[in-house]
Amino acid sequence: MKPELSQAARILRRDGVVAFPTETVYGLGARLSSERAVRKVYRVKGRPSDNPLIVHVATFQQFRALTRDLPKEAWALAAAFWPGPLTLVCRKSQAVPETVTAGLETVAIRMPNHRLARALIRAAGEPIAAPSANRSGRPSPTRFDDVRNELEGRADLILRGGDSRVGLESTVVDVTQRPFRILRPGFISVEQLRAVVPDVRAWKGAVRGAAKSPGMKHRHYQPACKVVMVRPELWQKSVRDWTRRSLRLGVLSYTQAIPQAANICLRRRFRGQEQYARHLYSGFFEAERKKVDVLLVESPQAQGVGLALMDRLSRASS
Ligand code: TXA
Ligand code: MG
Repeated sequence: MKPELSQAARILRRDGVVAFPTETVYGLGARLSSERAVRKVYRVKGRPSDNPLIVHVATFQQFRALTRDLPKEAWALAAAFWPGPLTLVCRKSQAVPETVTAGLETVAIRMPNHRLARALIRAAGEPIAAPSANRSGRPSPTRFDDVRNELEGRADLILRGGDSRVGLESTVVDVTQRPFRILRPGFISVEQLRAVVPDVRAWKGAVRGAAKSPGMKHRHYQPACKVVMVRPELWQKSVRDWTRRSLRLGVLSYTQAIPQAANICLRRRFRGQEQYARHLYSGFFEAERKKVDVLLVESPQAQGVGLALMDRLSRASS
């Protein structure tokens, strides 16, 4: 075992918290059975205690042990998409402590598609409860340096991994009700889910107050600068108008050209929505470092990963 990995496992066994890479975003992990460490996760993030954590597993046996009354279609989803960016909200077994689920009878579970993440779970000897490795309300970090800037001195260790390949948090699906329902859009689309379970209900948007997933009602994903979504049909005029103001601008687009202007200090032109998703949060952090006042972002299309992008961008700009 790599020395860093055994050190991380030792910290987890001693009730510490460890930030680690996954394919979606970095997580801030505690050993599932350590109430002390789980509380520390909430404290380090400044997370409201009514917002439950996701339990990360390395094996299907761990998944089984954490749940009860799992419908066979839930198994089918796990089999089809794990390891991968899909989280299943299931009825919980006795094995899941209350602090992890914020008192709910259900537990959110996923198997990350990242070798280091799964190696850490195996080394810890049990599942790892982990939210994204950001302070509450902030964007989720997808690069080691961004995690370090957010959590240095607060997490007991930050495991170095590469950049997250997906870049947005997992798709969350509630499998405790029929039909199954998407609670948070992510990289795995409703079309992909329906190829396995045909009647999965699409994400309905964040209805205030009616949020079934506690996390969806809190402020989220907001960088220190103002984020403004610009529709493609208004792009040229809108961006030009912004460049005439004495503000430091950042611009992210994936179909539209970015004009030359002295006050654009951050420009990123992505090749398609998936690349846009992959680099969105690192773009937010970079905009902060470059002291951008206003970050102009192209509105995504409401399909595939575009739905998840739209969700994160709407919250970031709200
Ligand atoms: O990709 C991801 O999911 C990342 C990586 C680290 O795995 N994790 C992540 O965790 O995004 P977090 O805590 O930032 O988001 C978890 C979401 C929240 O919206 C939370 O409210 C919801 O899942 N959730 C957790 N447990 C739930 C439950 N029992 N019922 C409904 N929603 C739940
Ligand atoms: Mg989060």
